[in-house]
Amino acid sequence: LRYGILGTGMVGRTIGGKLVALGHDVMLGSRTADNPTAGEWMAAAGDRASRGTYAEAAAFGEIVFNCTKGDASLDALRAAGADHLAGKVLVDVANPLDFSRGMPPSLFVGNTDSLGETIQRAFPRARVVKTLNTVNADLMVDPGRLAGTHTMFVCGDDADAKATITALLRDGFGWPDVIDLGDLAAARATEAYLHLWLRLWRSLGTLSLNVAVIR
Ligand SMILES: NC(=O)c1ccc[n+]([C@@H]2O[C@H](COP(=O)([O-])OP(=O)(O)OC[C@H]3O[C@@H](n4cnc5c(N)ncnc54)[C@H](OP(=O)(O)O)[C@@H]3O)[C@@H](O)[C@H]2O)c1
Repeated sequence: LRYGILGTGMVGRTIGGKLVALGHDVMLGSRTADNPTAGEWMAAAGDRASRGTYAEAAAFGEIVFNCTKGDASLDALRAAGADHLAGKVLVDVANPLDFSRGMPPSLFVGNTDSLGETIQRAFPRARVVKTLNTVNADLMVDPGRLAGTHTMFVCGDDADAKATITALLRDGFGWPDVIDLGDLAAARATEAYLHLWLRLWRSLGTLSLNVAVIR
């Protein structure tokens, strides 16, 4: 498949690299066509890797990942272009973190709304699936870095889109326990979980952490 990854940070590069390793063609998108970080990633990732603008990456991808800074995601997606997202699965990995009052950050949307839902309303023809935002980038594509079975959450309004991404999470990224939380309003819960994640990070002193839902 062809994947368009919006975002050149840790998350975009990590997910993009894994997708290339799985045999897919991946374009990493950013505000500029010649982003040097994307250039380094491309050189390391090999022939199936390319870089471009947000619009070029969104047009390229059959499936698109939003891996941009949460407070810039709407701008990045507008630059990507609604027509380039229409009908496509849009995997939203972003968190609505607000660092304006220092650490730990707060959330700039929550409780009765979420960033995932905000994106879905702004791009109604995209099929938004929220997932992976609850773990650090390296765990997203390699959950085996932690011993034992731990949990990934997925939610979204489009059942087929969710099934597509659940299969990628299970068979591609190696998540044995993927819990479908239902419609996209569940993004309120997985984004709010960041409050707990940030406290766990501070208390445990490691980014390599996740929850396992025992039932
Ligand atoms: N880091 C993690 O392990 C982790 C884990 C879970 C979830 N997340 C979430 O995943 C997302 C990506 O995180 P990250 O750490 O990889 O990188 P990040 O620093 O949060 O975001 C980097 C991307 O945001 C873009 N960006 C920044 N300001 C922008 C603006 N004004 N307009 C358009 N684009 C803008 C950058 O564009 P350029 O490429 O043009 O510079 C870059 O591609 C975030 O929402 C984060 O909360 C991160």
